[in-house]
Amino acid sequence: MAAKVTVPEIMNMKQKGEKITALTAYDYSFARILDQAGVDILLVGDSLGSVIQGQESTLPVTLEEMIYHTKAVVRGRNRALVVADMPFLSFQVSLEEAKRNAGRFLQEARAEAVKIEGGVSVHRTIEEIVQMGIPVMGHVGLTPQSIHRFGGYKVQGKERKQREIILQDALAVEEGGAFSVVLEGIPMDLAEEITQRLSIPTIGIGAGVNCDGQILVVHDMLGLFDKFTPKFVKRYADLKGIMADAVKNYISDVRKENFPDEKHSFH
Ligand code: KIV
Repeated sequence: MAAKVTVPEIMNMKQKGEKITALTAYDYSFARILDQAGVDILLVGDSLGSVIQGQESTLPVTLEEMIYHTKAVVRGRNRALVVADMPFLSFQVSLEEAKRNAGRFLQEARAEAVKIEGGVSVHRTIEEIVQMGIPVMGHVGLTPQSIHRFGGYKVQGKERKQREIILQDALAVEEGGAFSVVLEGIPMDLAEEITQRLSIPTIGIGAGVNCDGQILVVHDMLGLFDKFTPKFVKRYADLKGIMADAVKNYISDVRKENFPDEKHSFH
């Protein structure tokens, strides 16, 4: 087994100029496959609201659901760092709730870090959680929990004022003590500027090639989720097609009594 990925190692990768690879995972079997393939970070993202639960946004996802999925992912990984996404309402209401909920991800689900959406507004929250010994990954730019404020899944930071706000958010995340930050849905030159200004690694999604690492929703990159495909997603497989063909073959075999055959039966 390759050496376990740790938070300090992820931070060192930026200094060494090594790209950080991250994917989302929501269950044991997927976690095993991605971990064995060598991905550095498994994020149990609240994107599971869309790709697992079929919700319109990430907002309905609860803390209990996130803990349930994080437990399954942790059981499936040997090497990758497991980061759990703090869902809507789990960290915004009070510092006390945020700290307890972050702690639950480590104590009950055995995650190794949590991710929090927001910048300047969650600076203090990040600081207090980090002081508890819990590593925090930040998330700025197009933060899906603020979808109604943005009026849709729109690229953020195109205008000068917005650009400055996102830069200040990223700086606040670093200042709060986060070990890394996701940059989502922002122009690539802004992501490059933030990556140069920060000493912590930036993990991009829809933020261009100049981030320190990349993350994608695993169902998007494997072609399992086709309700909508953002421009930034590269499809590395068509698993939906492969699965549909397999299921059609099964249906046909059963109907024609080709399955079960001798080989798959007991005497
Ligand atoms: O919820 C999620 O999966 C995420 C990533 C896309 C960064 O936040």
